Amino acid sequence: MSDDIFYVTTPISYPNDVPHRGHAYTTVAADFVCRFRRMQGHTVHFLTGTDEHGQKLMQSAVARGITPKEFVDSMIPRWTEVWSALDISNDDFIRTTDARHEEAVAPFVQAMYDRGHIYLGTYKGLYCIGCEAFKSPDELVDGKCPLHDLVPEEVEEENYFFKLSAFAERLIDLYEKGHFVLPETRRNEVLGKVRQGLDDLSISRVSFDWGIPVPWDARHVIYVWVDALLNYITAIGYPADMDRFDRTWPANVQFVGKDILWFHTVIWPAMLMAVGVEVPETVFAHGFLQVGGEKMSKSKLTGISPHDLIATFGSDGYRYYFMREFSFGLDGEFSWESMAARYNSDLANDLGNLSQRVLAMIARYLDGSIPKPPADAELDDSDRSLFEVQRESFARVTEAVDAINPTDALKFAWAFVRKANAYVEEVAPWVLAKDESTRRRLEVVLYNLADALRLLALTVAPIVPRAADELWRRLGLDGSVADRRYSSDLRWGLLPEDSQVHIGDPLFPRIEDAA
Ligand code: ME8
Ligand code: MG
Repeated sequence: MSDDIFYVTTPISYPNDVPHRGHAYTTVAADFVCRFRRMQGHTVHFLTGTDEHGQKLMQSAVARGITPKEFVDSMIPRWTEVWSALDISNDDFIRTTDARHEEAVAPFVQAMYDRGHIYLGTYKGLYCIGCEAFKSPDELVDGKCPLHDLVPEEVEEENYFFKLSAFAERLIDLYEKGHFVLPETRRNEVLGKVRQGLDDLSISRVSFDWGIPVPWDARHVIYVWVDALLNYITAIGYPADMDRFDRTWPANVQFVGKDILWFHTVIWPAMLMAVGVEVPETVFAHGFLQVGGEKMSKSKLTGISPHDLIATFGSDGYRYYFMREFSFGLDGEFSWESMAARYNSDLANDLGNLSQRVLAMIARYLDGSIPKPPADAELDDSDRSLFEVQRESFARVTEAVDAINPTDALKFAWAFVRKANAYVEEVAPWVLAKDESTRRRLEVVLYNLADALRLLALTVAPIVPRAADELWRRLGLDGSVADRRYSSDLRWGLLPEDSQVHIGDPLFPRIEDAA
């Protein structure tokens, strides 16, 4: 692979509360793609972090009688511990209160100003602290912002404005020519709105001071969204280490929820265009998770916390369920029942039972020792069809990951799991074991099945990394599956002869209490 870096980001969350399943949804999806890309041999850089300025954070701190900085510092461990419990493999974690970020935001905004994209004006309007955004009257329902169920505050103040309106044509061009916005439906949504014209954007505030000062006018702080969006480039060295920045930027995929589509597909590329920095390759906006038809949020505690779910389903079960159950671009309805059902059928039954059965048969019929790999002449149609389904399944998994479709990637991966289960029934090793004359055939089919488990461990490692490592160990292999590479390892016949298998507890213990 070239030294080009595959760069993936998630939104940086407001740490005014603890992470919920919505935040974890974006982060797990990004992690799945990053882990897969690493196993393909890419050098990946995976960034996540926290968005720590703005009025919402300041108010939460004031309500607790502490400073905003004390407040955010106290909250960060709550976030990092959830990411580590979910085996998120981020390479960096940026906080917008990091010195590296604060020092880098000013030169960017200064460059926008120097190039004539910023002017002083007066803003009069409504500000929703939940969104940290100005709202037009037609975005309100009964006088409230429907996204946060909050009455916006009336603001009239002197603000600096970014001439966003000047970028409409270049943005339209950007949407039309490629895959900057995915999925397609979101692209059309943004395109339609931008075609109606753009207003300039207020990018500073004077009525509070929890933010980064405007470099040429310290009475103002930079609008929290402008500050926050810049994390994606300040974290990789802009402008202090431009060599590193150039190796990493542009981002290959920026994952966001559909709620922040506008910021990432209109304001963000326009800011970059204003200073002459390349725009990201793709912004992918996924759907929203709901509970009983309502958007889950920190304020409406409809959330069972990620911790509660991890305690029951494990980190692997959590990761698998959210990626498999809901089509990634669309909204989804979470329920404990659907999670238990999905876990039991796909993980406990399909994958878990397969590995248990195969390892038990190798222990029983072959003293736990992997036999000699079959020669070509020893293979029959059932074996070839198993190999064929594996190749087809992995090719489609790869295509789905390329299309940022984790849901389909898992469907295709499980086509191979199901085929391997069908193969067990078809070749019936317990029948072959009854007769000495079919001894070699027994060895061949059990080799194929053990090797199928190895290929499955490689295929599913990006989504269920713990189970993959455990399966690897049970096959007598060393190290972590995450360190393996598809180009060298994803071939039939590489499981070493004489390696000793171990049978352990079920990989995915069944959840009996489905409700
Ligand atoms: O918006 N379903 O932060 P945030 C799915 N700080 N995803 C959800 C979700 C749900 N119910 N709720 C939240 C911010 N998310 C800004 C971002 S980026 C420069 C600044 C996900 O903590 C979704 O991806 O309010 C959302 O965009 C993200 O969590 C962050 O939410
Ligand atoms: Mg790149």
